[in-house]
Amino acid sequence: MSTTSIHSDVSHLDDERAGQERFDQIIAEDSRIEPRDWMPEGYRKTLVRQISQHAHSEIIGMQPEANWITRAPSLKRKMILMAKVQDEAGHGLYLYSAAETLGTSRDKMVQDLLDGKAKYSSIFNYPTLTWADVGAIGWLVDGAAIQNQVPLCRASYAPYGRAMVRVCKEESFHQRQGWEILYELSNGTPEQKAMAQDAVNRFYGPALQMFGPPDDDSPNSKQSMAWNIKRHSNDELRQRFVDMIVPQAEALGLTLPDPDLKWNEERGHYDFGELDWDEFMSVIKGNGPCNVQRLQHRREAHENGAWVREAAAAYAEKQARRNQDAADRHLIGA
Ligand SMILES: [Fe+2]
Ligand SMILES: [Fe+2]
Repeated sequence: MSTTSIHSDVSHLDDERAGQERFDQIIAEDSRIEPRDWMPEGYRKTLVRQISQHAHSEIIGMQPEANWITRAPSLKRKMILMAKVQDEAGHGLYLYSAAETLGTSRDKMVQDLLDGKAKYSSIFNYPTLTWADVGAIGWLVDGAAIQNQVPLCRASYAPYGRAMVRVCKEESFHQRQGWEILYELSNGTPEQKAMAQDAVNRFYGPALQMFGPPDDDSPNSKQSMAWNIKRHSNDELRQRFVDMIVPQAEALGLTLPDPDLKWNEERGHYDFGELDWDEFMSVIKGNGPCNVQRLQHRREAHENGAWVREAAAAYAEKQARRNQDAADRHLIGA
Protein backbone atom coordinates (compact mmCIF):
# COMPACT_ATOMS: atom_id res chain seq x y z
CA MET A 1 0.00 0.00 0.00
CA SER A 2 1.42 3.41 -0.90
CA THR A 3 1.75 6.16 1.67
CA THR A 4 -0.85 8.26 -0.17
CA SER A 5 -3.52 5.57 0.13
CA ILE A 6 -2.73 5.04 3.83
CA HIS A 7 -3.11 8.77 4.32
CA SER A 8 -6.42 8.84 2.47
CA ASP A 9 -7.68 5.84 4.49
CA VAL A 10 -6.80 7.60 7.72
CA SER A 11 -8.47 10.84 6.67
CA HIS A 12 -11.52 8.84 5.50
CA LEU A 13 -11.76 7.29 8.98
CA ASP A 14 -11.42 10.73 10.55
CA ASP A 15 -14.26 11.99 8.34
CA GLU A 16 -16.42 9.04 9.35
CA ARG A 17 -15.75 9.66 13.02
CA ALA A 18 -16.48 13.36 12.72
CA GLY A 19 -19.61 12.59 10.72
CA GLN A 20 -20.87 10.11 13.28
CA GLU A 21 -20.20 12.56 16.12
CA ARG A 22 -22.04 15.34 14.34
CA PHE A 23 -24.93 12.95 13.51
CA ASP A 24 -25.19 11.78 17.14
CA GLN A 25 -25.21 15.39 18.29
CA ILE A 26 -28.01 16.35 15.88
CA ILE A 27 -30.09 13.38 17.07
CA ALA A 28 -29.37 14.16 20.75
CA GLU A 29 -30.49 17.76 20.22
CA ASP A 30 -33.61 16.50 18.44
CA SER A 31 -32.71 18.56 15.37
CA ARG A 32 -32.86 17.46 11.77
CA ILE A 33 -30.68 15.65 9.31
CA GLU A 34 -30.61 17.13 5.80
CA PRO A 35 -29.69 15.14 2.65
CA ARG A 36 -26.12 16.49 2.50
CA ASP A 37 -25.34 15.61 6.13
CA TRP A 38 -23.31 12.52 6.92
CA MET A 39 -25.52 9.67 8.15
CA PRO A 40 -24.93 6.04 9.15
CA GLU A 41 -25.65 3.52 6.39
CA GLY A 42 -28.29 1.80 8.55
CA TYR A 43 -30.16 5.07 9.02
CA ARG A 44 -30.15 5.70 5.27
CA LYS A 45 -31.34 2.17 4.48
CA THR A 46 -34.08 2.25 7.10
CA LEU A 47 -35.38 5.52 5.70
CA VAL A 48 -35.29 4.40 2.08
CA ARG A 49 -37.22 1.27 3.05
CA GLN A 50 -39.77 3.12 5.20
CA ILE A 51 -40.35 6.09 2.87
CA SER A 52 -40.56 3.97 -0.29
CA GLN A 53 -42.98 1.53 1.39
CA HIS A 54 -45.01 4.53 2.45
CA ALA A 55 -44.99 5.88 -1.14
CA HIS A 56 -46.02 2.49 -2.55
CA SER A 57 -48.90 2.33 -0.03
CA GLU A 58 -50.21 5.70 -1.22
CA ILE A 59 -50.08 4.58 -4.86
CA ILE A 60 -51.56 1.09 -4.35
CA GLY A 61 -54.07 2.59 -1.91
CA MET A 62 -55.66 4.50 -4.78
CA GLN A 63 -57.06 1.26 -6.21
CA PRO A 64 -59.67 0.12 -3.67
CA GLU A 65 -61.28 3.56 -3.64
CA ALA A 66 -60.91 4.31 -7.34
CA ASN A 67 -62.98 1.15 -7.75
CA TRP A 68 -65.99 3.25 -6.64
CA ILE A 69 -65.42 6.48 -8.59
CA THR A 70 -67.70 5.48 -11.47
CA ARG A 71 -70.36 4.23 -9.06
CA ALA A 72 -70.34 7.02 -6.47
CA PRO A 73 -73.96 7.72 -5.47
CA SER A 74 -73.97 11.40 -6.56
CA LEU A 75 -71.97 13.89 -8.60
CA LYS A 76 -70.83 15.58 -5.39
CA ARG A 77 -69.60 12.27 -3.91
CA LYS A 78 -67.83 11.49 -7.17
CA MET A 79 -65.99 14.83 -7.14
CA ILE A 80 -64.95 14.41 -3.51
CA LEU A 81 -63.74 10.87 -4.08
CA MET A 82 -61.79 11.85 -7.20
CA ALA A 83 -60.09 14.65 -5.28
CA LYS A 84 -59.26 12.25 -2.46
CA VAL A 85 -57.78 9.59 -4.74
CA GLN A 86 -55.79 12.29 -6.54
CA ASP A 87 -54.44 13.49 -3.17
CA GLU A 88 -53.13 9.97 -2.56
CA ALA A 89 -51.25 10.08 -5.87
CA GLY A 90 -49.72 13.38 -4.73
CA HIS A 91 -48.67 11.81 -1.41
CA GLY A 92 -46.94 9.02 -3.31
CA LEU A 93 -45.04 11.56 -5.42
CA TYR A 94 -43.84 13.72 -2.49
CA LEU A 95 -42.68 10.56 -0.76
CA TYR A 96 -40.79 9.19 -3.77
CA SER A 97 -39.08 12.59 -3.99
CA ALA A 98 -38.19 12.50 -0.30
CA ALA A 99 -36.75 8.98 -0.69
CA GLU A 100 -34.74 10.07 -3.76
CA THR A 101 -32.85 12.61 -1.64
CA LEU A 102 -31.29 9.56 0.06
CA GLY A 103 -29.68 8.48 -3.20
CA THR A 104 -32.08 5.81 -4.52
CA SER A 105 -33.76 6.53 -7.84
CA ARG A 106 -37.50 6.54 -8.25
CA ASP A 107 -37.19 4.11 -11.17
CA LYS A 108 -35.49 1.58 -8.89
CA MET A 109 -38.16 1.96 -6.18
CA VAL A 110 -41.00 1.62 -8.67
CA GLN A 111 -39.34 -1.40 -10.27
CA ASP A 112 -39.03 -3.10 -6.86
CA LEU A 113 -42.75 -2.60 -6.36
CA LEU A 114 -43.62 -3.98 -9.80
CA ASP A 115 -41.33 -6.97 -9.25
CA GLY A 116 -43.10 -7.77 -6.00
CA LYS A 117 -39.89 -7.13 -3.99
CA ALA A 118 -41.19 -4.08 -2.09
CA LYS A 119 -43.92 -4.05 0.52
CA TYR A 120 -46.88 -1.74 0.94
CA SER A 121 -49.53 -1.48 3.64
CA SER A 122 -51.41 -4.79 3.75
CA ILE A 123 -54.77 -3.06 4.32
CA PHE A 124 -54.96 -2.33 0.59
CA ASN A 125 -55.10 -6.03 -0.20
CA TYR A 126 -58.71 -6.14 1.00
CA PRO A 127 -61.55 -5.57 -1.47
CA THR A 128 -64.06 -2.69 -1.42
CA LEU A 129 -67.34 -4.56 -1.78
CA THR A 130 -69.84 -1.73 -1.22
CA TRP A 131 -70.01 2.07 -1.26
CA ALA A 132 -69.87 2.02 2.55
CA ASP A 133 -66.32 0.64 2.26
CA VAL A 134 -65.24 4.01 0.88
CA GLY A 135 -66.57 5.52 4.13
CA ALA A 136 -64.87 2.89 6.28
CA ILE A 137 -61.55 3.41 4.50
CA GLY A 138 -61.73 7.17 4.97
CA TRP A 139 -62.71 6.94 8.62
CA LEU A 140 -60.56 3.98 9.75
CA VAL A 141 -57.70 3.67 7.26
CA ASP A 142 -57.01 7.37 6.77
CA GLY A 143 -57.68 7.79 10.51
CA ALA A 144 -54.99 5.22 11.36
CA ALA A 145 -52.68 6.85 8.81
CA ILE A 146 -53.06 10.21 10.57
CA GLN A 147 -52.29 8.65 13.95
CA ASN A 148 -49.12 7.18 12.43
CA GLN A 149 -48.11 10.20 10.40
CA VAL A 150 -48.62 13.19 12.69
CA PRO A 151 -45.58 12.14 14.80
CA LEU A 152 -43.64 11.60 11.54
CA CYS A 153 -43.89 15.35 10.87
CA ARG A 154 -41.12 15.53 13.50
CA ALA A 155 -39.05 12.69 12.03
CA SER A 156 -35.33 13.43 12.25
CA TYR A 157 -34.90 13.17 8.46
CA ALA A 158 -36.02 16.63 7.36
CA PRO A 159 -37.37 15.93 3.82
CA TYR A 160 -39.58 13.15 5.23
CA GLY A 161 -40.92 15.37 8.01
CA ARG A 162 -41.63 18.21 5.59
CA ALA A 163 -43.53 15.91 3.20
CA MET A 164 -45.58 14.63 6.13
CA VAL A 165 -46.79 18.10 7.14
CA ARG A 166 -48.67 18.55 3.90
CA VAL A 167 -49.79 14.94 3.72
CA CYS A 168 -51.34 15.15 7.20
CA LYS A 169 -53.38 18.22 6.33
CA GLU A 170 -54.95 16.31 3.46
CA GLU A 171 -55.41 13.14 5.51
CA SER A 172 -57.60 14.94 8.03
CA PHE A 173 -59.94 15.95 5.17
CA HIS A 174 -59.94 12.31 4.04
CA GLN A 175 -60.89 11.07 7.45
CA ARG A 176 -63.74 13.53 7.79
CA GLN A 177 -65.18 12.67 4.38
CA GLY A 178 -65.13 8.98 5.33
CA TRP A 179 -66.81 9.66 8.66
CA GLU A 180 -69.46 11.73 6.92
CA ILE A 181 -70.25 8.99 4.38
CA LEU A 182 -70.77 6.53 7.25
CA TYR A 183 -72.82 9.07 9.22
CA GLU A 184 -75.22 9.55 6.31
CA LEU A 185 -75.57 5.81 5.78
CA SER A 186 -75.94 5.11 9.47
CA ASN A 187 -78.78 7.64 9.64
CA GLY A 188 -80.36 6.39 6.40
CA THR A 189 -82.53 3.34 5.70
CA PRO A 190 -82.03 0.11 7.71
CA GLU A 191 -80.30 -1.38 4.64
CA GLN A 192 -77.90 1.56 4.45
CA LYS A 193 -77.13 1.31 8.15
CA ALA A 194 -76.49 -2.43 7.82
CA MET A 195 -74.14 -1.72 4.90
CA ALA A 196 -72.19 0.80 7.00
CA GLN A 197 -71.95 -1.66 9.90
CA ASP A 198 -70.75 -4.44 7.60
CA ALA A 199 -68.01 -2.21 6.19
CA VAL A 200 -66.81 -1.27 9.69
CA ASN A 201 -66.87 -4.95 10.71
CA ARG A 202 -64.53 -5.83 7.85
CA PHE A 203 -62.12 -2.89 8.08
CA TYR A 204 -61.77 -2.53 11.88
CA GLY A 205 -59.26 -5.37 12.48
CA PRO A 206 -57.04 -4.68 9.45
CA ALA A 207 -57.04 -0.94 10.33
CA LEU A 208 -55.71 -1.73 13.83
CA GLN A 209 -53.02 -3.88 12.22
CA MET A 210 -51.80 -0.90 10.17
CA PHE A 211 -49.66 0.08 13.17
CA GLY A 212 -47.60 -3.06 12.66
CA PRO A 213 -47.01 -6.11 14.85
CA PRO A 214 -47.05 -5.91 18.67
CA ASP A 215 -43.96 -4.19 20.14
CA ASP A 216 -42.40 -7.49 21.28
CA ASP A 217 -42.41 -8.73 17.67
CA SER A 218 -41.17 -5.49 16.15
CA PRO A 219 -37.37 -5.64 16.44
CA ASN A 220 -36.62 -2.60 14.20
CA SER A 221 -38.85 -0.24 16.16
CA LYS A 222 -36.33 0.40 18.94
CA GLN A 223 -33.61 1.52 16.54
CA SER A 224 -36.05 3.75 14.63
CA MET A 225 -37.07 5.36 17.90
CA ALA A 226 -33.44 5.87 18.93
CA TRP A 227 -32.92 7.66 15.60
CA ASN A 228 -35.99 9.87 16.18
CA ILE A 229 -37.64 8.54 13.03
CA LYS A 230 -40.39 6.83 15.00
CA ARG A 231 -41.67 8.67 18.08
CA HIS A 232 -44.10 6.15 19.57
CA SER A 233 -44.22 2.37 19.57
CA ASN A 234 -46.71 0.37 17.48
CA ASP A 235 -48.78 -0.59 20.53
CA GLU A 236 -48.83 2.98 21.82
CA LEU A 237 -50.14 4.27 18.49
CA ARG A 238 -52.69 1.46 18.25
CA GLN A 239 -53.98 2.32 21.75
CA ARG A 240 -54.31 5.99 20.85
CA PHE A 241 -56.23 5.06 17.73
CA VAL A 242 -58.68 2.82 19.62
CA ASP A 243 -59.19 5.55 22.25
CA MET A 244 -59.97 8.01 19.44
CA ILE A 245 -62.41 5.90 17.43
CA VAL A 246 -64.56 4.49 20.25
CA PRO A 247 -66.41 7.80 20.89
CA GLN A 248 -66.51 8.46 17.14
CA ALA A 249 -68.21 5.08 16.57
CA GLU A 250 -70.74 5.97 19.27
CA ALA A 251 -71.48 9.25 17.51
CA LEU A 252 -71.96 7.30 14.27
CA GLY A 253 -74.35 4.87 15.95
CA LEU A 254 -72.17 1.95 14.79
CA THR A 255 -70.58 -0.86 16.79
CA LEU A 256 -66.89 -1.79 16.72
CA PRO A 257 -66.67 -5.57 16.18
CA ASP A 258 -64.74 -6.49 19.33
CA PRO A 259 -66.53 -8.06 22.33
CA ASP A 260 -63.48 -7.36 24.54
CA LEU A 261 -63.57 -3.62 23.92
CA LYS A 262 -64.21 -1.81 27.20
CA TRP A 263 -63.04 1.21 29.17
CA ASN A 264 -60.35 0.43 31.72
CA GLU A 265 -60.65 2.98 34.52
CA GLU A 266 -57.29 2.09 36.01
CA ARG A 267 -55.32 2.49 32.78
CA GLY A 268 -57.39 5.38 31.51
CA HIS A 269 -57.62 3.62 28.13
CA TYR A 270 -59.87 1.20 26.30
CA ASP A 271 -58.92 -2.48 26.52
CA PHE A 272 -59.34 -4.39 23.29
CA GLY A 273 -59.12 -7.99 22.10
CA GLU A 274 -56.24 -9.83 20.45
CA LEU A 275 -55.97 -9.24 16.69
CA ASP A 276 -55.61 -12.01 14.12
CA TRP A 277 -51.85 -11.83 13.53
CA ASP A 278 -51.79 -15.07 11.51
CA GLU A 279 -54.07 -13.45 8.97
CA PHE A 280 -51.88 -10.33 8.99
CA MET A 281 -48.73 -12.35 8.25
CA SER A 282 -50.50 -14.30 5.55
CA VAL A 283 -51.66 -11.11 3.79
CA ILE A 284 -48.15 -9.63 4.05
CA LYS A 285 -46.75 -12.79 2.45
CA GLY A 286 -49.00 -12.21 -0.56
CA ASN A 287 -52.03 -14.34 0.26
CA GLY A 288 -54.59 -11.61 0.95
CA PRO A 289 -57.78 -11.46 -1.12
CA CYS A 290 -56.42 -8.83 -3.57
CA ASN A 291 -52.58 -8.99 -3.52
CA VAL A 292 -52.34 -10.44 -7.02
CA GLN A 293 -54.97 -8.12 -8.46
CA ARG A 294 -53.37 -4.97 -6.97
CA LEU A 295 -49.93 -5.69 -8.42
CA GLN A 296 -51.33 -6.81 -11.74
CA HIS A 297 -53.32 -3.59 -12.02
CA ARG A 298 -50.28 -1.47 -11.09
CA ARG A 299 -48.13 -3.23 -13.71
CA GLU A 300 -50.74 -2.63 -16.39
CA ALA A 301 -51.08 1.03 -15.42
CA HIS A 302 -47.28 1.37 -15.52
CA GLU A 303 -47.10 -0.16 -19.00
CA ASN A 304 -50.03 1.86 -20.30
CA GLY A 305 -48.39 5.01 -18.95
CA ALA A 306 -45.07 4.40 -20.73
CA TRP A 307 -45.93 6.79 -23.58
CA VAL A 308 -46.69 9.57 -21.08
CA ARG A 309 -43.28 9.14 -19.41
CA GLU A 310 -41.57 9.07 -22.83
CA ALA A 311 -43.42 12.19 -23.99
CA ALA A 312 -42.58 14.04 -20.76
CA ALA A 313 -38.90 13.10 -21.10
CA ALA A 314 -38.82 14.19 -24.78
CA TYR A 315 -40.49 17.48 -23.89
CA ALA A 316 -38.05 18.14 -21.03
CA GLU A 317 -35.16 17.43 -23.37
CA LYS A 318 -36.53 19.79 -26.03
CA GLN A 319 -37.02 22.55 -23.44
CA ALA A 320 -33.49 22.09 -22.14
CA ARG A 321 -32.12 22.29 -25.68
CA ARG A 322 -34.08 25.46 -26.40
CA ASN A 323 -32.90 27.05 -23.19
CA GLN A 324 -29.34 26.12 -24.04
CA ASP A 325 -29.70 27.57 -27.57
CA ALA A 326 -31.15 30.79 -26.14
CA ALA A 327 -28.30 31.03 -23.64
CA ASP A 328 -25.72 30.46 -26.42
CA ARG A 329 -27.35 33.13 -28.62
CA HIS A 330 -27.29 35.51 -25.68
CA LEU A 331 -23.58 34.89 -25.16
CA ILE A 332 -22.83 35.43 -28.87
CA GLY A 333 -25.01 38.54 -28.89
CA ALA A 334 -23.20 39.89 -25.82
FE1 LIG B 1 -52.38 9.52 1.77
FE1 LIG C 1 -55.61 9.61 2.67
